[in-house]
Parts: sequence; C-alpha cells; structure tokens
Amino acid sequence: MAVTVIVGAQWGDEAKGKIADLLSGQAEIVARFNGGDNAGHTVMNEYGTFKVRLTPNGFSSPDTICIMGPGVVVNLETLIGEIEFIESQGIDLRSRLWISPRCHLVMPYHPLLEGIYENAKGDARTGTTRRGMGPVYADKVSYNGIRLADLADEKVFAEKLRIQLAIKNPILEAFDIQTLDAEAIFTEKMGQYVRIQAQVRESFGILQEAIAKDKEIVLEGAQAALLDNTWGTYPYCTASTTLAGGVSAGLGIAPALCRRVIGVAKAYTTRVGMGPIPTELFDSDGKVLLEQGHEYGTVTGRPRRCGWFDADLVRFTAQLNGFTELALTKLDVLDSLPRIKVCIGYRAPDQAEGQELAHYWQGDAHWLDRCQPVYEELPGWQQPTTDVHYFHELPAAAQGYVRRVEALVGVPVRILSVGPERDQVILVPPA
Ligand code: GDP
Ligand code: IMO
Ligand code: MG
Repeated sequence: MAVTVIVGAQWGDEAKGKIADLLSGQAEIVARFNGGDNAGHTVMNEYGTFKVRLTPNGFSSPDTICIMGPGVVVNLETLIGEIEFIESQGIDLRSRLWISPRCHLVMPYHPLLEGIYENAKGDARTGTTRRGMGPVYADKVSYNGIRLADLADEKVFAEKLRIQLAIKNPILEAFDIQTLDAEAIFTEKMGQYVRIQAQVRESFGILQEAIAKDKEIVLEGAQAALLDNTWGTYPYCTASTTLAGGVSAGLGIAPALCRRVIGVAKAYTTRVGMGPIPTELFDSDGKVLLEQGHEYGTVTGRPRRCGWFDADLVRFTAQLNGFTELALTKLDVLDSLPRIKVCIGYRAPDQAEGQELAHYWQGDAHWLDRCQPVYEELPGWQQPTTDVHYFHELPAAAQGYVRRVEALVGVPVRILSVGPERDQVILVPPA
C-alpha cells in the first residue's frame, strides 16, 4: 500500500489537510496533484496553526519531501508567502520542496477575467474563490498557458507574455478594466521566479524512485469530488480534476499504483459558493453546524452553507474514486444535537409516490436543486467526544452513527476525527 491518495468526498473543506498531515510522519513524500491557491488546508500540530493553499501538508514532518506536481497551478506570490511563513516558524522547507516546471502559472489577468465572467453571470455565478482558476486552466487546455519552465528563459517568457497581453488586454478594455503592462508583469514575475528557482525541479524521477523502493507516498487532493470539473455540480464546480484518477495526469503516477484511496468526508455536509446542496439547513440545527464547526472559508472567509450528511452523495463519490476507506471528520460538531438526520436518496422532481429513490448521478445541478432529500433519523449522543481516543469509548449513539454511515456509503470508516488537533483522531476497528 505504498501510494495513498486523499480525496475530498463532498464539496471541499473536509479536513484533507489534517489527514495528509497525520499520515505525513510515515511518508517519504507528500505531493499535490491538482488545483491551486483556491484550496485552503488548515493544520494544527506542534509547530502551530497553518492555513496553506499550495504547500503540500508534509511540511511539518522534517524528513518528508513535498512535491507540487504538474497538475497544480501556481500563484507565485502565494507560494513565496507560504514558504517564508513556514520557514519563519523554524521549519526547513527549501531543501525538500520541489515544484514541477510543468506547473502553469496564475498570471495577473486570470483573476481579472474570472471577475468579468462572474459579474456577467450575476445570480448564476459559480461563486468562485476569485483566484483565477477557471481562466488559468482554460489557458492550459487552449495552449495559451505560461508554465514555470518558460520563466527559465527570459526571452521565451517575454514573448509569451506579449502574446497573451495582446489577447487579454482588449478584453479587459472592453469591460472598462485597466489594461496590464507587459514590462511591469515581466519584472514582477521574474523577481518572484528567482526566489523559488532553486525549488523548480521535475518531480517525476523522485516519485518513480520512491515507488520502485516501495516508500510511503501520500497524495493530497485539493477541492473535492463534487467540485470536479466533469462529475461535480457543473457549472458550480472548480476547473481541475479533483478525483483520485487525477493523480495520473497531475503527477505521472499510474492508476494501478493507487491502491489505498481515502475519502475524507465531514460527518455532515458543507459547501461554500453557489450550487445545490439537497440537505442544506436553514434552521437552528444548521446554525449549530456553522458555529460549532467554525464553518467559514479559509481562502475567502465566507460562511459555509451547512446541511445533514448526504449518504447518497458520498456513496456516489466512493464509487467514482474507488475509496478503500473513509476518514470521517468533525464528528464532534454533532455532539450537542438530540437527533441527527442522514440523507439516503432523493425524491426527484415529478417523481410519483412509491417509486425507487433517485440518485445524484441521474441529473445535473439544476435537477439536483429541485430534488427533495429523503432522510433517516438517528439518535444524537449529547456528550463531548473531543477527548475520546478509542472507538469503544465513544457514546453508543456516536458509534451507531459511524456504523450507519459505513453501511449506507458501502465503505469502512478507518479514521475518525473529533477535533482540529493532530492527535484528536480515533482509529476505527472493522465493524
Ligand atoms: P481541507 O480544505 O479539506 O483541508 O479542510 P479545511 O482546512 O479547509 O477545513 C477543515 C477545518 O476543520 C479546519 O479549520 C480544521 O482545523 C478543522 N478540523 C479538522 N478536523 C476537525 C475535527 O475533527 N473537528 C473539528 N471541530 N474541526 C476540525
Ligand atoms: P479545499 O481544497 C471548498 C469552490 C468555490 C466555488 C467553486 C469554484 O480547501 O477543500 P474556484 O475558485 O475553484 O474556481 O471556485 O469551488 N472551491 C472550494 N470549496 N474548498 C475548496 O478547496 C475549494 N476550492 C474551490 O467556493 O464554489
Ligand atoms: Mg479547505
């Protein structure tokens, strides 16, 4: 089981960062394969609290190599800020962080173009993090991207930048946005590049060598399966492939090697941005989830929308990714609730009584928005779980909740998280 993939099972912020940090102690390598600084992964460990957007969560384990694979898009300003902050906390990173020269760069025009799209759509906007993700990945697939490798040759970079500004500036002008100056961007980006130049190195060889030696490798997904560009709630999704399958393109690791796939799922559901959540709560239970879970976005500070656990969704994402196990997080957030609901499927719009329940994959985002969740109700435990270290010491109702989630999703829960700290974790025995 040398390669472990960590994937968000819902709409993001499931605590993938915490799980990656937890597993990083035994790992030779922790690598990111998708997304950019739209991600926000919080970890709390002996070094302090870190909210990282780009740096793989192996940085707290001093002997672990951290890799940003070709599938990651890089905002140099964010990356430099993170490296400097991490090093200011007494952690050496420069000797073990490698960024693929194939990584595409977020350029100053990407967030501006994204702003144009989002504003034009008004109420139909995706509600993005405004980090330029859609436009940077669009440039990648339309052969208009600028990669880290391009900055190694000033002439190549200057020419690519000139061409892109010839395309982008007229669009900015048409929307009354100040056009961008090639020289200023050139100077800024080259200034940033020299600060990370020593870290730019293709990771393929390092990964293949570790695979050949059967070393532990942890792949830290960003975003989550329901934000995937193809299988997520399009167009309320992100620009990259967020699935376990994304590691092949994003890091050059063959699918057959990914034998352990951990789906990280919150014990309830959250989403930040627009798009459907069938189990969304607007009542006092939703308030408990928001407040007890501190559900405010790491990147944007927006309150996250909260709802009950949706087993139909997570069963779908388990099949999509081939989850071999679940890490169920934030169980403690449910501690005070007298009863807890779990969605087991939907009544589709216009569905007659008595028909089989509908599933997520049968329709699109608009259809899902009109589906009614069907719930099963379980007893709450109304006792704190944050100091519990063994599964059998959890209240019986909490154990029952975990076992019911396993049965409905069809995947065993192996890791249970009951607080943000690294050691607030319970290893779950088989049912
Ligand atoms: P990620 O994007 O999937 O890495 O998740 P985020 O870091 O964006 O969001 C998870 C938040 O929950 C962070 O603030 C974590 O510190 C916090 N957290 C992680 N695990 C737990 C847990 O088991 N209980 C509680 N209460 N908070 C947790
Ligand atoms: P982590 O890795 C939660 C959401 C945005 C928006 C949609 C598109 O921390 O789980 P984008 O900026 O990617 O074009 O926005 O996706 N989104 C996330 N939501 N967690 C994330 O990352 C997210 N990354 C993007 O809120 O709805
Ligand atoms: Mg997050």
